Amino acid sequence: MRRVGILTSGGDAPGMNAAIRAATAFLLSQRVEVIGIQHGYKGLLAGRMAPLTAGDVDQIQREGGTVLGSARCAEFVTIEGRNKAREILGAAGIEGLLVIGGNGSLTGAHKLIDPREAPGFGLRVIGVPASIDNDVGLTGMSIGVDTAMNTIVEACDKIADTASAHDRTFIVEVMGRDCGYLAMTAAVAAGADAVLFPESSKDEAAIVETVAKAVAKARSRSDRPKRVLVIKAEGTKVSTERLKEMVEARFRDSFGEKLDTLEVRLTVLGHVVRGGRPSAFDRILGSRLAYVAVRALLAGENDKMAAWLTPFPMPPASASRSAADPYCWLVDLAAVLAETEAMHNGTSDLVRWRSDLFASVEDVLPT
Ligand code: F6P
Repeated sequence: MRRVGILTSGGDAPGMNAAIRAATAFLLSQRVEVIGIQHGYKGLLAGRMAPLTAGDVDQIQREGGTVLGSARCAEFVTIEGRNKAREILGAAGIEGLLVIGGNGSLTGAHKLIDPREAPGFGLRVIGVPASIDNDVGLTGMSIGVDTAMNTIVEACDKIADTASAHDRTFIVEVMGRDCGYLAMTAAVAAGADAVLFPESSKDEAAIVETVAKAVAKARSRSDRPKRVLVIKAEGTKVSTERLKEMVEARFRDSFGEKLDTLEVRLTVLGHVVRGGRPSAFDRILGSRLAYVAVRALLAGENDKMAAWLTPFPMPPASASRSAADPYCWLVDLAAVLAETEAMHNGTSDLVRWRSDLFASVEDVLPT
């Protein structure tokens, strides 16, 4: 293989730069030319690409976001868009492609080389999971999750200070799209009194009740501040504003106190969660997964994703442990996408386990 393209696509994730750097450094050491494709599939379709040198990637592992830029691309979802992408990649002499991104990006990578769509198209593709949401199947962690989690915990620690000072209830909304992972893990690390997430089977009334129970418990304590911290995943079935209204209405009905002592404050962390310097773990994860991915690409692998340890055994027919790193696996993209779909529709064992776990600890979250 003489020329490999690298692109980052979808929501950027801290640690993507470490992946770009490691892949570039290794490929250059193997005398493979590296082409940086700018702004994901969108930039690919516009032919925006240029060679990457060792100087281009020097120290980029420290930076958040992605030096290649990223984008979401509706055109690439169409067969016409992918045909155009194949032509551009072919004309550029790109023989291998490293796709660093989340669910949508990996779906695009898999379709790009689908033999039913493009018989005889010789490109080889390997994916690297990168998304703060941690919603990519068959990898224990995606790049960016650890940094996002640390950002949330830092913000919640600060909010807890002011919440304690005023005996207030805060609902903090965190990113994660349809996945509650960031909310769940941050809730444990930040010592939240309740956590709300989309995978739960709770309806609106039950969600309000969860918050009300946490508030009642806090207000029953005479020895400590009556601070309440609720972490809510953005995909939770009820909107954050509506939840505030409903919880306040519930207070009016049930606690019989003046509303000003029970007013709920909202903080939506939004894109703050996605930015910032990557944690050491994300730099290492990005570097290791990218190294495994490009080694696999050069060894002739195709249509796979480099994955990090999973809690459940990998499907034996579609996954093998990386020869380059015993913590990493190479998994068929088709299996990854099937498990990702199962995570989204709630049929995945992993998602069931997470939901059951948090249902079983709900009463002990407020200590
Ligand atoms: O997938 C990453 C993510 O940050 C989600 O957590 C969030 O729902 C979404 O992207 C936001 O996307 P955008 O930046 O396009 O608004």
